[in-house]
Amino acid sequence: MEPPGTAPGSDPPIMGAFIAIVRVAPDSVNIGAGTAGCKWTRRALDAMLEGYHEGTHVMKILLVLAHPRQTSLCHAAARAFADAATDAGHQIDWADLAAERFDPVLHEADEPDWDNPAKIYSQEVQAEMARIERNEATVMLFPVWWWSMPALLKGWIDRVWNNGWAYGGANYPHAKVQMLAVAGGDAASFAKRGYDQAMVVQLETGILRYCGVQEPSLHMLYDSFDPEGRSALLAKAAELGARF
Ligand SMILES: Cc1cc2nc3c(=O)[nH]c(=O)nc-3n(C[C@H](O)[C@H](O)[C@H](O)COP(=O)(O)O)c2cc1C
Repeated sequence: MEPPGTAPGSDPPIMGAFIAIVRVAPDSVNIGAGTAGCKWTRRALDAMLEGYHEGTHVMKILLVLAHPRQTSLCHAAARAFADAATDAGHQIDWADLAAERFDPVLHEADEPDWDNPAKIYSQEVQAEMARIERNEATVMLFPVWWWSMPALLKGWIDRVWNNGWAYGGANYPHAKVQMLAVAGGDAASFAKRGYDQAMVVQLETGILRYCGVQEPSLHMLYDSFDPEGRSALLAKAAELGARF
C-alpha cells in the first residue's frame, strides 16, 4: 500500500518512526507508534493531524462511480471530490463500474441463501467484497435516474452487499458511507413531490442504515441542467471531498 501524498512531484517522505492516531469513538482515540519502514510524507502527516484535531482522520476511500460516459458531469464531480479528498490526505481507490463492465444482474450464484449466511458467492462478488475490505470508507457517485440510482449501481449493491456480509448477522465493513446524487432537477422540484425525502428513506435508511453503516449520508447535487447549477454542484462535490 502506498501512503497518501507519495505521487510523483509530491513532498519527500519522512522515513522511520510513525504515529497512528485512530478515532475509535467520538470521545476516544487509539494512539500507536512504530518504526516498521512506514513512509508518511509531511503533507500526509499534517493532513492526518489536522484531521484528527477536526474530528476526522485520513482514510482509504473506495469511490464507486456509476455513469456510462467518461465526459459526464458525474465523472467531473467525482474528480472534483477525489482531488479535494486527496489534497486533504485521503487515498482514493476508483471503482468506475461502467468502465470496468461490472455485471449488475444478480444470477443464482449470488442469490442469498436465507438458511446459510456463510454462503460463498461468485468470484466477481468475492473480488468486489475484497476491494471494499481493502478500503475504509465508501463514496458512491451517480446520476439520479427516475428518482433513484442507476440499475448499474443498484445491481452492484444487490450482488455485493449480500446476506451474511453486509446484513444478516453482519454489517457493511465501513462505518462511513456517502452517496452523492447528481440530479437534473432543482431542490424545489424534488421537495414539491417529496422525492428528496423518498430518496433519503430508500437509500440512506433502507440500504445504508439497514446494513449497519454508522455514518450514512445522502448528498443531493441538484441542478445539473443549469450552467450555474453545474458550477455550484462541482464546488459542492469538492467541498465534500475536502471535509470528508
Ligand atoms: C434515464 C434517466 C432518468 C433520469 N431521471 C431523472 C430524475 O428522476 N430526476 C432528475 O432530476 N433528473 C433525472 N435525469 C437527469 C440526470 O440526473 C442528469 O442527466 C444528470 O444529472 C446529468 O449529469 P450527467 O451529465 O453526469 O449525466 C435522468 C436522466 C436519465 C438519462
